[in-house]
Amino acid sequence: MQSKIIVAIDGHSSCGKSTMAKWLARQVGYIYIDTGAMYRTITLFALRNGFITSAGIDEAGLKAALDKVKVSFTLDPDTHLPLACLNGEVVESQIRGMEVSNNVSPIAALPFVREVMTAQQQQMGQDKGIVMDGRDIGTAVFPDAELKIFVTASAEVRARRRYDELIGKGETDINLDDIRRNVEERDYIDSHREVNPLRQAPDALILDNSHMTKDEQNEWLLSHFNECVAAQQQ
Ligand code: DC
Repeated sequence: MQSKIIVAIDGHSSCGKSTMAKWLARQVGYIYIDTGAMYRTITLFALRNGFITSAGIDEAGLKAALDKVKVSFTLDPDTHLPLACLNGEVVESQIRGMEVSNNVSPIAALPFVREVMTAQQQQMGQDKGIVMDGRDIGTAVFPDAELKIFVTASAEVRARRRYDELIGKGETDINLDDIRRNVEERDYIDSHREVNPLRQAPDALILDNSHMTKDEQNEWLLSHFNECVAAQQQ
């Protein structure tokens, strides 16, 4: 039997990590976990319960309420793709809007939030056979992952992709400059926070997909996956 591995895909926001991670997981029959969706779901909980206001984040309140938050995934019966759930309610579309996007980085920077999320992610990957994408998977969640990939693309390209994605979902009240600012702001917070900042693991393969098609990217990914699995068998 083929040995299963952990694939850790990290990188900047809106560079297509989730799309490629989902594709690979489906292609090789692995479980796919979008850890960004987990931080987004906590952010939605914080917004709904008044822990994020114009005065800032009520950290003590959120910390005390965190044991009442259950983040999970359920499979969409039609697409078979995972949908994020907050205490059993499917919140996939709510966590992708601008309100959550604008608030998620400071929430993801809170050490107590990261501690809880990291422990859950490690549990999800304990049997391997998983493709997990995020910011700190190869450095903090699974530092021993067999295959680590660090994805990046220019801020312009990433803002345009995000804009097209939101337009495709029917959002109308958006503009490219705001999105670019959001992308850059998230890059800054994600890579400057104290706990587990966005960093390329020294043993990660770099993929700059600014000028790559999806097919080229998938081919690159699958060939590295196959190489890595073959190396495990030896
Ligand atoms: O990948 P995304 O844009 O959905 O991630 C949302 C936010 O969560 C982003 O600001 C980075 C943060 N995040 C993180 O800090 N650690 C992860 N493993 C995944 C996401």
